[in-house]
Amino acid sequence: MNTGESQGHTFTLSPGGRLRGRFRVPGDKSISHRAIMLGSLADGHTRVSGFLEGADALATLRSFRALGVSIEGPGSGRVAIDGVGVDGLRAPAGPLDLGNSGTSMRLLCGLLSGQGFDSVLTGDASLSARPMGRITTPLTSMGASIHATEAGTAPLLIHGGQRLRGIRYEMPVASAQVKSGLLLAGLYAEGETWVKEPAPTRDHTERMLEGFGYPVYREHGWVGVEGGGRLRAADIDVPGDISSAAFFLVGACIAPDSEIVIEHVGVNPTRTGVLDILSLMGADIELRNRREVGGEPVADIHVKSSWLRGIRIPERMVPLAIDEFPVLFVAAACAQGDTVLTGAEELRFKESDRIAVMAEGLQELGVEAEPTADGMVIRGGRRREGHVLQGGQVRSHGDHRIAMALAMAALRARESIEVLDCDNVATSFPGFARLAREAGLGVTETGAVS
Ligand code: S3P
Repeated sequence: MNTGESQGHTFTLSPGGRLRGRFRVPGDKSISHRAIMLGSLADGHTRVSGFLEGADALATLRSFRALGVSIEGPGSGRVAIDGVGVDGLRAPAGPLDLGNSGTSMRLLCGLLSGQGFDSVLTGDASLSARPMGRITTPLTSMGASIHATEAGTAPLLIHGGQRLRGIRYEMPVASAQVKSGLLLAGLYAEGETWVKEPAPTRDHTERMLEGFGYPVYREHGWVGVEGGGRLRAADIDVPGDISSAAFFLVGACIAPDSEIVIEHVGVNPTRTGVLDILSLMGADIELRNRREVGGEPVADIHVKSSWLRGIRIPERMVPLAIDEFPVLFVAAACAQGDTVLTGAEELRFKESDRIAVMAEGLQELGVEAEPTADGMVIRGGRRREGHVLQGGQVRSHGDHRIAMALAMAALRARESIEVLDCDNVATSFPGFARLAREAGLGVTETGAVS
């Protein structure tokens, strides 16, 4: 967990209000990372639009420049990549600093294990505390040579020049990052690399590999690739990030008299758990104008305020909404009755321990939120209308999604809320405060770095 040594800038929120309007949210973070990675490995020129200009995806972009790829942009979401081919990466001059980004580290760990040169991956305090054994262990059984700290964390020193062999690996945790890292290593392995997940997770890597002409096999819950193929450059239009849209979805549900449309949001079924969970809670959400953009389903999401009720969240939905629980906990606090989440221990290994940190924040705001080993029990508001939360000062612990979730809580608070340590909002959602203000959230920023 980020210890929050530097408090960064603060969101100050006036209580109440409603959300209105029709707008877009920034590009999907997961797809933006993969666009840089696969565009770099492809033969030919890849043009990306809708790229997320957030710190995490930019860390990936800078890393590929350091690996010898010529990349223009980003500017207004546009990036142009001169692919170097699967064998064209060059040794970086120094360590690759991946900041706060777990996706960059776990996917690059797989990809760089198959190169002919050494590399070192580092990150900030939060990333350096996150478990990397889940990716380095299966990579090692493929023949990779990776040195981590004794705790199994970054920095990671990857010795290149190893001959990788394909494996069949059943993942103990449902993780798209691990699955993707292994598939990327599989591009460089002898034979076939197969991965099985305990539950479906986001499949952007598989879809994009196929979009770049690389065959991906699927069989009875297993996904596989064969090493030695090539990727053909392809243009990518990155849809809006449903994980960023989620803050507004919940905000519009809980704030009376709200009505919003979020346009052009990625609604890949491996990402839409948040819509299903909110619908089970009684939300008024409708997907219109469904279409497919570059192999990814996209829609406009219409949301109106509604009376939410507490539910027991089905465990099978957990990996499909894994990044949305901070804001779903806020929805639960505003719902009538109890909400019970189980089977979500993974939340403890995100940018912060999201179970502990959200329980702390909600309790500070007067909510009965009881953390459990693998989830949370939240006693919803006793009243349907009006304020269900108190005001107060809460800490994000350097976690972008905690900061934005607690900001949305102000829509149903009695007094103002101050959210400390909001710098990392820029990792996934640059411009969040401005967009939220335009939509009706009473947010001001102080001590902003940008
Ligand atoms: C991501 C996968 C998820 C998610 C993260 C992005 C990805 O992590 O939490 O924000 O882009 O593959 P895990 O796969 O570790 O659950």
